[in-house]
Amino acid sequence: MIHRLLDSKIEKKVRKLAYGYNYRQFPLLQEDFFIYSMRNFIHIIEWFIVNVLRKPTGILEIGIERGLSTVSILGLCKKLKLPYIGVDPGVVENIKEAAAKDSSIVVFENKSLEVLPNLGTELKSKGFEFPNVVVIDGDHNYYTLFHELKILIFELEELKVPYLIFLHDVTWPNAFRDSYYDPADIPEEYRHPHDPNLWATYSHKELQKFGSITPKGEYHYAKIEGGPRNGTVPAVLDAIKGYKDARLQFIVVPVVFGLGILVPLSSLSLKSKFKLLSFLEIFDIFFPLLWTLERNRLQLLEAYFKLEEQIKDKE
Ligand SMILES: C[S@@+](CC[C@H](N)C(=O)[O-])C[C@H]1O[C@@H](n2cnc3c(N)ncnc32)[C@H](O)[C@@H]1O
Repeated sequence: MIHRLLDSKIEKKVRKLAYGYNYRQFPLLQEDFFIYSMRNFIHIIEWFIVNVLRKPTGILEIGIERGLSTVSILGLCKKLKLPYIGVDPGVVENIKEAAAKDSSIVVFENKSLEVLPNLGTELKSKGFEFPNVVVIDGDHNYYTLFHELKILIFELEELKVPYLIFLHDVTWPNAFRDSYYDPADIPEEYRHPHDPNLWATYSHKELQKFGSITPKGEYHYAKIEGGPRNGTVPAVLDAIKGYKDARLQFIVVPVVFGLGILVPLSSLSLKSKFKLLSFLEIFDIFFPLLWTLERNRLQLLEAYFKLEEQIKDKE
């Protein structure tokens, strides 16, 4: 009996994965040549919410940009019947329109460190709980991320319920190198020397004249990689230091610039821990391949942008 049940479960999964050999029908998460959106992680985010968190109360997203990740997260919110809370100083029209039509979608058109200190009170006045799922993809630098995490972890620990924090850009280029949307937002003692006209490239320590589709002037990369208070990884490690009892785990999925997942082990049920372990066992097999593919993608992107620059120089 148990064999038949397992066989049919396996057969169902294999049928679902048949796009392995019908590869042209594989639904791409992001069509662009330069993939970067957190949309690419939506299945991982859903799996963690359903299997590890199990009782989500809402999803808070920091950093909306074109709304690519937001549309996927809104789809997930609809599926799981969850409120969505979004924060970005420049919210795109389609997301504002969605919020105007649907009371379970709330957007704050402001910077995270302006919004987060009063978020709990603001949400309470609108009848919402503090969301126990957070997706962070705003300003990728030590100062902003460290302070976002300090506020969020404090709030979430107070609630004494399980929670999940997903963070983008925890591998190259931002793992150990700050970037600033607006350097004026960063207090001087945290701000590294930076340049809006140069980019980080995978194989050079110094910033280069080529390296991204991001228009010049939009991103200010720190000139130096490494050292204290530089980049997203030190921000995460420093922010979780004070929470030994929570046994916060920092998992890194090393593709599309790196997805970080913060999981507080101490609040998880036994069932959730078994699920998490089953994920980690499979992940352990795929990790080296994922990182190899990502590094290869970064090298190819760099070669492409270098050629593009050489062609421009000749014209
Ligand atoms: C990399 S984009 C987000 C991409 C989007 N999450 C996706 O995956 O498709 C970063 C966004 O963060 C926003 N941002 C920059 N600084 C911010 C801050 N301090 N608080 C909130 N959002 C910020 C920018 O305006 C930009 O829209």
